[in-house]
Amino acid sequence: MMRRKNASRPARSEEALRLAQVTKVYGSAENAVTALDGVSLTLPAGSFTAVMGPSGSGKSTLLQCAAGLDRPDSGQVVVDGEEMTGGSEAALTKFRRRRIGFIFQQYNLLPTLTVAQNTVLPLKLAGRRIDKARAREILTQVGLG
Ligand SMILES: Nc1ncnc2c1ncn2[C@@H]1O[C@H](COP(=O)(O)OP(=O)(O)OP(=O)(O)O)[C@@H](O)[C@H]1O
Ligand SMILES: [Mg+2]
Repeated sequence: MMRRKNASRPARSEEALRLAQVTKVYGSAENAVTALDGVSLTLPAGSFTAVMGPSGSGKSTLLQCAAGLDRPDSGQVVVDGEEMTGGSEAALTKFRRRRIGFIFQQYNLLPTLTVAQNTVLPLKLAGRRIDKARAREILTQVGLG
């Protein structure tokens, strides 16, 4: 289960993201590759961070663990005050839908939907009200109006 620090959660955590001793190993035995080896970091809310490093240094693995798309083998991932590690797959899915935006290098958009439909899909899946005018406004802001 996703744990909240306080039952009555503050509006926003001052930390957007915290990783504590996060480790991820692909494969096993002689094929084992340690992609993340005890990574700890804290990113304050409202900040912008670029992750840089050589090919194979673990950037994608880091982002996938930080966004709850993959699970670390050990360590803790806390997004906006909520711990993501240890929850069920369903709880993680709901958390991602509510709290995380992820733009993939290969986009992963649904080709049968329009740009607007792709944009509001997470809201639709979450059963939330869709403000079409607001969606259009945001798309216009990024040159996709
Ligand atoms: N699914 C996987 N199975 C086995 N090894 C993997 C897997 N994904 C990544 N790795 C290995 O883990 C290490 C880190 O890979 P990762 O993709 O996180 O690096 P990266 O920094 O994103 O690289 P790039 O700049 O090429 O995208 C690499 O040695 C890679 O070969
Ligand atoms: Mg990568």
